[in-house]
Amino acid sequence: MKGQVPVITIDGPTASGKGTVASKVAEALGFHYLDSGALYRIVGLVCLRANVDLKDIAAVTAHAMGISPVFAGGRISLGSEDITNVIRTEDVGQAASCIAVIPSVRNALFELQREARREPGLVADGRDMGSIIFPDAELKIFLTASAEARAHRRYKQLIEKGIDVTLDDLVKEMKERDLRDMRRAHAPLAPAEGAKILDSSFLTIQETVDKILYWWVSRSH
Ligand code: DC
Repeated sequence: MKGQVPVITIDGPTASGKGTVASKVAEALGFHYLDSGALYRIVGLVCLRANVDLKDIAAVTAHAMGISPVFAGGRISLGSEDITNVIRTEDVGQAASCIAVIPSVRNALFELQREARREPGLVADGRDMGSIIFPDAELKIFLTASAEARAHRRYKQLIEKGIDVTLDDLVKEMKERDLRDMRRAHAPLAPAEGAKILDSSFLTIQETVDKILYWWVSRSH
């Protein structure tokens, strides 16, 4: 859109590789990168630490309105604490997915996400980037992959970390989480209007990044 800072949105299901792909696309273009999932994880973390009941809408919303994280040099900090790694834990991920269903929490994070739109441009990854946060984005991608392909990628990561899991269990969990994400009432996971669907089941990270960069340079202005 003329006069607006350009935005590329990359939405998609869990373990689709959005984060890695989005940050590589941002790096290639010299754009800023917004990891919106990190915001939901930060709210999850502060609520867990404050012993807040995750179903207490007023308390969780108050915490969501109070966060002011700093994203710099690939690290995330809250006050003087570096929370980059702690927000990736399973407990925090679970808490994030609980609080993400609360509409007032989503509203509380709205401006924080919109403020990330700065010159020379932004690549934003999440679930509702193209549909709700940046509906006027110049390029919208819905990055997906079969549950089997995503489970396989997660399996490799977990085994490398020494965590014992089976591929079958991961495929099952992946399918369950997809259904929950797609069926939730507020901002369910679905391709935004005008989004290009990119299935990365048989693509490497670099091939996926290249495809998005190709769409970016060949878009009509
Ligand atoms: O992408 P992620 O795993 O870091 O996201 C953590 C949780 O936050 C996940 O359960 C879905 C939720 N989320 C969301 O509801 N909307 C977003 N734009 C990003 C994440």
